[in-house]
Amino acid sequence: MAFRKRILCIGAGYVGGPTMAVIADKCPQYKVTVVDINRARIEAWNSPNLPIYEPGLDAVVERARGRNLFFSANIDAGIREADIIFVSVNTPTKNFGQGAGYASDLQYLEQTARRILEVSDRPKIIVEKSTLPVRTAEAMERILDSTPRGVHFDVLSNPEFLAEGSAIADLENPDRVLLGARDTASGQKALAEIVRIYANWVPRERILTTNVWSSELSKLTANAFLAQRISSINTISALCERTEANVDEVAFAIGRDSRIGPKFLKASVGFGGSCFKKDILNLVYLCRHYGLMEVADYWESVVRLNDWQQHRFVGRMLTHMFNTIAGKRVAVFGFAFKADTGDTRETPALTVVRDLLAEHAVPVITDPKAIPEARHDLADALDRVEFTEDPYEAVKGAHAIAVCTEWQQFVRLDYAKIFALMRKPAFVFDGRNILDHRKLYDVGFNVVPIGKAELIHH
Ligand code: UDX
Ligand code: UDX
Repeated sequence: MAFRKRILCIGAGYVGGPTMAVIADKCPQYKVTVVDINRARIEAWNSPNLPIYEPGLDAVVERARGRNLFFSANIDAGIREADIIFVSVNTPTKNFGQGAGYASDLQYLEQTARRILEVSDRPKIIVEKSTLPVRTAEAMERILDSTPRGVHFDVLSNPEFLAEGSAIADLENPDRVLLGARDTASGQKALAEIVRIYANWVPRERILTTNVWSSELSKLTANAFLAQRISSINTISALCERTEANVDEVAFAIGRDSRIGPKFLKASVGFGGSCFKKDILNLVYLCRHYGLMEVADYWESVVRLNDWQQHRFVGRMLTHMFNTIAGKRVAVFGFAFKADTGDTRETPALTVVRDLLAEHAVPVITDPKAIPEARHDLADALDRVEFTEDPYEAVKGAHAIAVCTEWQQFVRLDYAKIFALMRKPAFVFDGRNILDHRKLYDVGFNVVPIGKAELIHH
């Protein structure tokens, strides 16, 4: 079959892989190829064991792979044949030089742009999928315009708003698709070409088009606002613990105000994930760059508060466990940064485990999906941490359970059996407020939730 257009995606990660799988699934008339410098990752995409866990992803890949969805390590061949190139390489926080700790490291993006330039012999549409600092498209354009060969590239911004764990549902039924383009004839023509792809399954009124800079900045702003809600409710959780207010009740009550809304108000041990911290620090860096110090400080406090909330968790464990946890086994329930993913980037569980180690406790980590990642993240401490997929194994001889991820599996466990396996007094620190605290208390546990009264046996 002759394809209408050939789409290439550079970067087969958490964003590029699922996004392209859904585009291929919804648009059989397009050929979609995903390339990556990491050969092992490409091999995994071509195998029955996909490199990332995401509910529903297997079925989508199964339907499209080999039909119009291809994973390849041949980046140059992919660039050559493509009409449209999505760039979804990672843009981590820079850890060196100017802007270290805040700015985005754009070296992969630049290398990718240079590769596109070197290999292309005809015009192409370049779509920024990675989250980028505002005005990155300008740098991209300048690199792509830097040869005398005269090949023209249109650079568009198309940030991805999917959340991990619900990526397929988010992609199949997005609140909105955002596309930013230049207000030139060729920019608008390129824009229409990308709108046409999404219009195969996204209602037209949900496809928003803006200028390039608004699109780039909207992504940073969306993540900053989402993270801000969590830090805000987490500040209130601390106040609830002092005042006998209940943070879940407060969240419910304020969420009923339609101007506030009920979502993203769950107090927790802190937010994690590859995006929130990175994107806010990036926003902070941009603000400082433009001399907006107060604006930078405002957003930076969202990240600081999140760090504080994470450290506060082990602090409360210490207070309740007689000011010493040295030598005590602590079952860490969940290591992924949220439920339904094996991803552990910026996970609050890592902060918790590091704090436990600093107190000479013995963390025993259990997680249904993230044990390999946890081992990797704790490579320097493998002699001091234990790992098991079986929660009943993890609690044997433990003094406490620390819930760090909201896996539903943990809700359904037999806590009477667990209590029997543990040392007494046995504690549950519920960093996600997912367990039935009253029931646990009745079983015999001392229960310490986030943002509500503790239930302690005397
Ligand atoms: C990345 C960015 O981190 C995020 O800001 C953006 O919104 C989307 O892209 P993610 O997909 O989660 O998010 O990153 P990751 O899983 O690390 O995937 C990036 C992939 O790009 C990796 O597989 C990496 O090997 C690949 N890559 C990186 C290239 O193919 N070429 C490069 O030059 C650099
Ligand atoms: C986020 C954005 O939601 C998404 O739009 C963007 O494209 C990428 O960044 P993600 O990081 O995958 O997605 O997951 P998300 O569901 O936003 O959760 C982030 C963190 O916040 C998790 O650690 C989660 O447990 C935590 N969280 C979320 C809370 O602590 N409380 C809440 O109410 C919601």
